[in-house]
Amino acid sequence: MIITISGTPGSGKTAVARILAKKMGYELIKLNDFIDEHKLWSGKENGSKLVDVKKLKKAARKILQKGDLIVEGHLSHFLMADFCIVLRCDPSVLGRRLKKKRWPVRKVKENVEAELIDVILTEALENKNIKKLIELDTTNLSPEKSAEKIIRLIKKGRPHRENVIWLKKYEKHLK
Ligand SMILES: Nc1ncnc2c1ncn2[C@@H]1O[C@H](COP(=O)(O)OP(=O)(O)OP(=O)(O)O)[C@@H](O)[C@H]1O
Ligand SMILES: [Mg+2]
Repeated sequence: MIITISGTPGSGKTAVARILAKKMGYELIKLNDFIDEHKLWSGKENGSKLVDVKKLKKAARKILQKGDLIVEGHLSHFLMADFCIVLRCDPSVLGRRLKKKRWPVRKVKENVEAELIDVILTEALENKNIKKLIELDTTNLSPEKSAEKIIRLIKKGRPHRENVIWLKKYEKHLK
């Protein structure tokens, strides 16, 4: 089974995937390392490396045939998967986490906005090569609890959506 774990930077992909891989006995692939190893960038924008998603999909095809695998990274929702887990986090909590990681203000803003308007979830919903999508709000969950919940949801074998509409929660700040 292929499980991809995506979400806005700071949503907890690395923390959750590490625990999940251990609990399930699956190999873990960090997509960012894979991208670096295979030089799958197409250039730079504002100092950040731009990834060639087309090239990434092609290069990943081979490893995705290996069997039981967890792939984590903020582009992993573009790959084929039996389950794609999209981690969600309240934008204000996400902002705090990224500030704590000493991310530049511009990058914090960029990612808080992306979470606010569901960028990754929307992209994942558009990917026809995902069999089942599980959205999980981890705002009030530890990485351990998040991993446990993911295992329960996978065992159920059904897609899962949360009732998170951050825009609704924060619309008063946008007026
Ligand atoms: N559920 C959680 N509750 C509280 N803090 C968390 C939770 N998940 C992750 N964190 C913390 O938030 C920070 C970001 O987590 P992590 O590095 O796993 O995110 P990520 O999605 O992998 O980010 P990136 O895309 O930058 O790699 C870390 O300091 C981590 O300890
Ligand atoms: Mg990470």
